[in-house]
Formats: sequence, C-alpha cells, structure tokens
Amino acid sequence: MPLSKLPSRSSIAYDDTGPERGPGAALVLLHAFPLDRGMWKPQVAALREVARVIAIDLPGFGESPAPPEFGIEGAADAVAGLLAALDVPKAVVCGLSMGGYVALALARRHADRLAGLILADTRAGVDDTQAKAGRNKSISAVRAQGSAALFEEMLPKVLCEATRSNKPDVVQQLKSVAGRQRAEGVAAALVAMRDRPDANPGLKDIAVPTLVLVGELDTVTPGLSAANLAAQIRGSRLVNIPGAGHLSNVENPAAFNAAVREFLASLS
Ligand code: MLT
Repeated sequence: MPLSKLPSRSSIAYDDTGPERGPGAALVLLHAFPLDRGMWKPQVAALREVARVIAIDLPGFGESPAPPEFGIEGAADAVAGLLAALDVPKAVVCGLSMGGYVALALARRHADRLAGLILADTRAGVDDTQAKAGRNKSISAVRAQGSAALFEEMLPKVLCEATRSNKPDVVQQLKSVAGRQRAEGVAAALVAMRDRPDANPGLKDIAVPTLVLVGELDTVTPGLSAANLAAQIRGSRLVNIPGAGHLSNVENPAAFNAAVREFLASLS
C-alpha cells in the first residue's frame, strides 16, 4: 500500500511506494499542468517493483496547499525540502512538461540532490509574447469557469487523436484529475509558467545522467524541444515514445515505463 502523506515539516503532499531503501536512488515524479500526482498511476504501479517511487503534488495542486506565491523555482525548493524531510539524500527526478520545468530548476538550484534526471515532454525555453498572452487568457478562463473547463479546451492539444478516440478510460481519468484542481492553484501555476526563467543557460552544467523522453506526436513540446535538451545536456539520451502525444506517460505507459526502467537499471 502506498504511504500517502502531508508531512508537517513540508507542505507537499505525496505518495511513497516501493522498497524503502532499494539498490538505486528513489524516483521522484513531478506532474504536468493542470494535473496532480494521480497522473502517474501507470508509472507507480509498474515502477515500484524496481524503485522507491515518490509521486508529488506540486504546490497548489492536488492535496498540496498553495503557497502565497507559486514560482517554478519555489516549487523546486519545496521538492528539495520534501526530500530533506524524507531523508532522501539523492533522487532520480522525472518531470513531465510543467514538472520538467521544476526538474530543470532543481538541477540549477539543488544539483546535489540529483542522482539522475528524466525530462519528459518538456522544454528549456521561455514563453514568447503570444504564449504569455495565452496564459493571461487561461488565467481569466480558469477563474471564471474552473479547471475542468480549461482542461476540456486543452485536450485536443495534450492528447493525440488516437488516444482521444481509442482510450476513453485514459481521457476520463485525466479529466477527473484535472477537474479536482482548485482554480486559484491553477491560475498561480499559469503565472509561474508565464514568467519562468530560461533554463537553456544551465543545461551545460547538468552533470548527472539524463534521459529525455518525448511523445512522437507531441505538439505542445515537440521533438524539436526534446532535441534541444538532448543536444545541450552532456551524455543525455533521447527516446521517442511511439503513438503518444504530450502526455506520453499515460498515452503509451508501456514504452514510457520501459525507457524509465532501462534508465534506472543503467544507473545501478
Ligand atoms: C503541461 O503539460 O504541464 C503544460 O502544457 C506546460 C505548459 O503549458 O507550458
């Protein structure tokens, strides 16, 4: 049974599963927007056989309270704080999309906590003017209509056509995760993503083994973004997830998990 906790020393909610002290480092999972740790169900089920898996609700999502201000770097500090509270000296940190922005901030601010990095369907660059305007529109939309309506609009972008047509259970599960997010937490994350710092200058300093994953049909953070990460992070490996869009971990969990398993095995 997973341990589900909101520790008093940290305001981050999480599930902690798998062997307490496995042969390798713990695997920390950081979710996409506007979701929570529930999106990692297929990974927790499969990967806890091989690693201690800690799935986290980023500040303002799921059961984690929203801090007065949510920033990508503040979220990275909160994750580092949780690892310290759990007495986990080093972890392999896997972030998907928004979770990847936080993972990259961890690499810049808490490199000593990292045993490895998995960057899935994410990017290093900042929002351009058009993207920033889109964030502002989404902030008004989520405040007026809530998170479920915002996610409904995002669906055609974040899931490939085949997933939307052939995997109604996956679509339903994601809708239910997105639908339980509080509008204020979602709005705060939109501000944080709109204003996030450029992660490109720090990529050359990443010195831990890194796996870059991307759904081959991802149109939000496409192959080009993944190729940019892989080109700048020394010794990293790029793996395409076939038949998957932006949320590759739920669209093709078998391929996603296989790539993560292989990466974890290569570290131990
Ligand atoms: C996500 O999936 O976390 C978002 O698409 C990230 C973003 O909007 O930049």
